[in-house]
Amino acid sequence: MRLAVIGCGYVGLVSAACLAEIGHEVISVDTDLEKIAELNRGEVPIHEHLLPQLLERHRGKRLKFSSSVGDAVKQSEAVFITVGTPDSGGGEPDMSAVEAVAAEIAGSISEPKLIVEKSTVPVCTCESIRKVLLLHGAGTGRFSVASNPEFLREGTAVTDFLYPDRIVLGVDDDFSAAMLYSIYRPLTEGAYYRQAGVIPGPHAKAEPARVIVTNAKSAELIKHAANAFLAMKISYINMVANIAEAVGADIDQVCTGLGADARIGPQFLQAGIGYGGSCFPKDVAAFQNVAFQCGIDFALLSEVTRINLEQQRQFVKKVRAALWTLRNKRLGVLGLAFKGGTDDVRESPAIAIVRELLKEGAQVCAYDPAAMVKAREVLPAGAIEYAENEYQAAARRDALLLLTDWPQFARLDLHKLRTVMKLPIILDGRNLFNPNQMAAAGFLYYSVGRALRVTETMPNLWHGVRFAPQAVPVMTARPEGLPV
Ligand code: UGA
Repeated sequence: MRLAVIGCGYVGLVSAACLAEIGHEVISVDTDLEKIAELNRGEVPIHEHLLPQLLERHRGKRLKFSSSVGDAVKQSEAVFITVGTPDSGGGEPDMSAVEAVAAEIAGSISEPKLIVEKSTVPVCTCESIRKVLLLHGAGTGRFSVASNPEFLREGTAVTDFLYPDRIVLGVDDDFSAAMLYSIYRPLTEGAYYRQAGVIPGPHAKAEPARVIVTNAKSAELIKHAANAFLAMKISYINMVANIAEAVGADIDQVCTGLGADARIGPQFLQAGIGYGGSCFPKDVAAFQNVAFQCGIDFALLSEVTRINLEQQRQFVKKVRAALWTLRNKRLGVLGLAFKGGTDDVRESPAIAIVRELLKEGAQVCAYDPAAMVKAREVLPAGAIEYAENEYQAAARRDALLLLTDWPQFARLDLHKLRTVMKLPIILDGRNLFNPNQMAAAGFLYYSVGRALRVTETMPNLWHGVRFAPQAVPVMTARPEGLPV
């Protein structure tokens, strides 16, 4: 089919490349002329595993880039809207880009078209898009609007698209349903998986993707409810981790027991410094705002956000507990992206923690395998130093902080690290190492939800000193509802 994808951000670019990969003719549109020029030159504006291969494979063939919404709409049977919906402050997403695109699409509709909303949006957005299309001259009967939320994670977005847990089709009429079924048929009937040279999936055997058909409003709700639920799961496990740490239990063991319950599941139980990124923080606030508009007080979500921010403060507190004062302390930082596998630093807990440390007078030298360019935009050189690799970031430092879960950090040469560092102190906000292994390597190793190990192999200096950080804030009053 002939498709247009409006917006070349993370979601738009991955969707356009993957739609081309499953056999469609795609025009990928952005109003940023420089970005379109870059894409046409073969450059890839974001760090996303497998995206460069897909762009290389389809660019100039099934995948074209354009800056004209009108031309792309005219040439396409279905148009995906994948423009940004950033937080406008106060929890409401800024929907102006979606509105502007809808208005522009309206002027180019001359034959029946499907308009598919794929950006993360509050419930009832499809309804608003329909109104805008009509107001801007798209005749009734000339278009249908559907919701097709994406569940892509940065870092694994390509395989998430091609091998999805589910494809949600939010449709209010037969035309939308038929069109969306045709678009996704290579995945839902599995023809894509039987071809030679396809992008390999996460499992040995690829099953055809499961389709869930709902109305548009339910699909819109599924997206917000899923992201808010996952964020809640992370805040929950972080609180459990803080309790585990305070009482000397081990969060890894707790998660093994907890996640083995099929009703809970093992995923998204990784304790750490909290969630970040362009989705969870914004979507939790936006979903709470949707509830508020409906007269519903979804206070649970305020707690999810509060706990998430508190988790960053807890980590800074742990750095203080390890080093006492922070003024002029030389800290190495590994990881600035909001998670491993991406160059995205939006709402990154790592960046928030570095900012706090700088406020207290620490000197920071950081390294990230992919996010240094984007990090420099928010933490200019001068505020911090940037290293060329992990060992340079750690060299002559009082402590090393692990703030992003890049797999390569978990494979660091501990002996080399121990040799280059001034003091053998590591604070791991992502639980990348086994505490026993770190203690055996001579490190004073602080992680999240796991007790500090002090062994005989450590320098004498550590013995008899109480290092245990204060993991939970001291309660000033008993929490409401707790039995006396
Ligand atoms: C998230 C959702 O997982 C996707 O399904 C969704 O499509 C996407 O948002 C979106 O709305 O566009 P993403 O933000 O790319 O994807 O990344 P996640 O892998 O979900 O991680 C989000 C944050 O939670 C990261 O900071 C990560 O480090 C943190 N996290 C994740 C934890 O702290 N613990 C975990 O167990 C899992």
